[in-house]
Amino acid sequence: MTESRNGWRPAALALVLAPGLLAPVPARAEFGDPMRGQQLFVSNGCVACHAVRGAGGRIGPDLGRTLAKGSFFELAAAMWNHSLVMNEKMREFRLMRPQFEGTELADLMAFLYFLNYFDEPGDPQFGKVLFAEKHCIQCHSLGRVGGRSGPRLDSLPRGRPPLKIAQDLWNHGPVMVPAIRALGLNVPEFQGSEIVDLFAYLRSQGRREASRDFRSAGDPAKGKRVFETKECSRCHALFGKAPDIGPDLGRTELRGSVTQLAGRMWNHWPAMSQAMSALGLTPPTFQGDELADLFSYLFMARYEGQGGSRERGRAIYAEKGCAYCHGPEGEGGRAPALRGALRGAAKEAIAQRMWNHAPAMVARMGGERIPFPRFTPEELTDLFTFLGQGLPKMSARAKEVRR
Ligand code: HEC
Ligand code: HEC
Ligand code: HEC
Ligand code: HEC
Repeated sequence: MTESRNGWRPAALALVLAPGLLAPVPARAEFGDPMRGQQLFVSNGCVACHAVRGAGGRIGPDLGRTLAKGSFFELAAAMWNHSLVMNEKMREFRLMRPQFEGTELADLMAFLYFLNYFDEPGDPQFGKVLFAEKHCIQCHSLGRVGGRSGPRLDSLPRGRPPLKIAQDLWNHGPVMVPAIRALGLNVPEFQGSEIVDLFAYLRSQGRREASRDFRSAGDPAKGKRVFETKECSRCHALFGKAPDIGPDLGRTELRGSVTQLAGRMWNHWPAMSQAMSALGLTPPTFQGDELADLFSYLFMARYEGQGGSRERGRAIYAEKGCAYCHGPEGEGGRAPALRGALRGAAKEAIAQRMWNHAPAMVARMGGERIPFPRFTPEELTDLFTFLGQGLPKMSARAKEVRR
């Protein structure tokens, strides 16, 4: 465990992420490395003030529980908007305000973003109660108890990944849903973490045989293909305009872990299959890692967020006072030029530079009586689009200023 630069040694954080859990998350150029992000969270002293799922400090909010997981921009806006209060607290507790270099901020964001991707450990005791309450027990047996009309569920390999169980459940929908209705029962729905608890129970009862593959993080590139070949894109847009039969999966609230997401997808099985048969389609089934791939695609796409608008970004750049100090075209003036530094930069790099320079910038703003700028995630998306793509190389106007 890394020791904090501030000398704070958070023994408890070891509980948060077992290395094996995040190892399969694809580390890609545009996306930070969540494992490194976890180390940075400790070494930069964030953990002295923030707990993640209960482990860590109490001075700031628990980032595992409260933090919105909409996109990178939602995380970055939350961190920026709170930075004045955060800085005050850091001074009060004599903690050093961290500076980030290289991919550090990207790694930290990837860590915070992926905190929610994996389930909290489920409660098998509660899952046992749900197994009866949701009537699974009427058709499925575990050990000696339970009905016989559905397959025994204790033949599942012990420790089968929850997403694989969700995939089994989904694939059997066409037979199981009519069978449930034939008994006059409601098709079970899962709220909150119920599906995680229920699966924890099933996983604990399975055959004592290690599951062969424990891969829970999928491959987003394959997932994109699954999204298209399984016809999801016929009804769902992902940050788009096109089909509006189902909700836009970029905009709809998809908080919660990947298994909870699978639970919500299951909840919509009846409505979805009805909508599909109206289009002459049958509900798709998933093999191998397809469901995991699909969800990793949805999560990655959501991290990137909706594309921003340069034009709106330009307006925000003027409104929030950036243009006043950095020049209307980023050519500099009361503050350094932004053009050379930011043109073509990734969103993570822009956020990192803003964070590192914030103390000097804020001090100057105070002097000029410019209020500290706060951003909605949408505003930040537009602003970064403008800063990264919209600043001219050398505009006629900047040449004029030089003359
Ligand atoms: C000295 C204590 C302290 C340290 C150290 C600290 N924070 Fe904070 N942080 C806070 C407080 C207090 C708030 C809430 C501020 C407010 O309510 O405006 C906060 C808010 C946040 C938020 C917004 C949370 C939300 O729910 O909107 C994020 C994100 C965040 N911090 C990330 C970090 C990261 C990443 C680090 C390490 C680089 C860090 N913080 C270090 C005290 C701290
Ligand atoms: C009315 C009876 C009935 C109820 C109630 C029921 N199931 Fe099923 N279930 C079935 C049948 C029948 C199948 C086999 C479907 C097939 O062959 O395609 C099945 C298949 C499954 C499978 C796939 C098993 C495998 O070996 O791949 C899982 C997992 C499952 N059910 C879980 C559940 C859970 C969890 C509940 C409660 C929330 C539940 N079932 C409620 C009848 C039921
Ligand atoms: C024929 C149209 C159709 C197809 C094809 C379809 N869906 Fe849906 N989907 C819907 C509808 C309609 C809803 C909303 C149902 C409701 O509100 O009960 C929905 C809801 C969802 C939800 C829940 C969203 C939420 O806010 O809780 C998820 C997740 C989802 N679909 C994923 C998928 C995936 C993944 C695929 C491809 C395998 C897919 N859908 C294919 C029509 C479709
Ligand atoms: C009151 C003047 C002022 C305002 C308003 C201002 N800045 Fe700055 N900014 C500065 C100063 C001064 C620096 C250099 C700080 C340093 O050297 O640490 C700076 C540095 C930066 C940097 C780092 C540049 C680099 O080379 O890495 C970025 C990015 C930045 N500002 C973006 C913005 C954005 C976006 C806004 C509008 C939301 C803004 N600034 C508003 C004065 C300002």
